[in-house]
Amino acid sequence: MHIDIISTVPELLDSPLSHSIMQRAQDKNLLTVRVHDLRPYGLGKHNSVDDYQFGGGAGMVMRCEPLAALIDELRAERDYDEVIYLTPDGERYAQRRANRLSLCQNLLLICGHYKGIDERIRETYVTLEISIGDYVLSGGELAAAVVVDSIGRLLPGVIGDETSALTDTFQDDLLAPPVYTRPAEWRGREVPAILRSGDTGAIEAWREEQALERTRQRRPDLLGDELADD
Ligand code: 6GU
Repeated sequence: MHIDIISTVPELLDSPLSHSIMQRAQDKNLLTVRVHDLRPYGLGKHNSVDDYQFGGGAGMVMRCEPLAALIDELRAERDYDEVIYLTPDGERYAQRRANRLSLCQNLLLICGHYKGIDERIRETYVTLEISIGDYVLSGGELAAAVVVDSIGRLLPGVIGDETSALTDTFQDDLLAPPVYTRPAEWRGREVPAILRSGDTGAIEAWREEQALERTRQRRPDLLGDELADD
């Protein structure tokens, strides 16, 4: 998979994409991520990328021309499956969307700043708008890092059995069960005996039951209406 990201603060994306599983995905050539600085495409001698909004009001808006110039350049090189604008008024991001995006070849992510980008860029280029939750971030970069991480770890070969993505919380609409490692007893607290029993069938059943119980307690909304008030 190849992901291009357009940003006015590309430095914000350096660290999240260059460690741990994201680094491994790129080292194995399963994922390439390029962050493109919008600033050189800015207008005038100050490379202006934003301007006051028509109609008045506080906050700047990212202008059409610099974004269009960079997007056109990138689109000449690749056919994008989706052109994604990260914005608090987008579709709320969840595992289902991550799963679907992980099947794509080429993605273009646009990070907004200030009051956002000119509506006409959204109408002209954007095919999908994503929000990572109901709160406001200063810009789309951290959201883009969240989206890239959540997709990258789903690509076949990126993570091994030891962290199988299939058993993640949310992957089956359930929260993950509790996990333990050595020592078997710590400060008087013992690891549940069943996990040390070697009985894989019983362990599997225990984990399912714990996942269900934890989901009922913490996120009944994930179980649908019938079970929500059990
Ligand atoms: Cl994608 N962008 C910004 N600026 N704020 C957000 C967001 C995105 N998702 C939640 N809050």
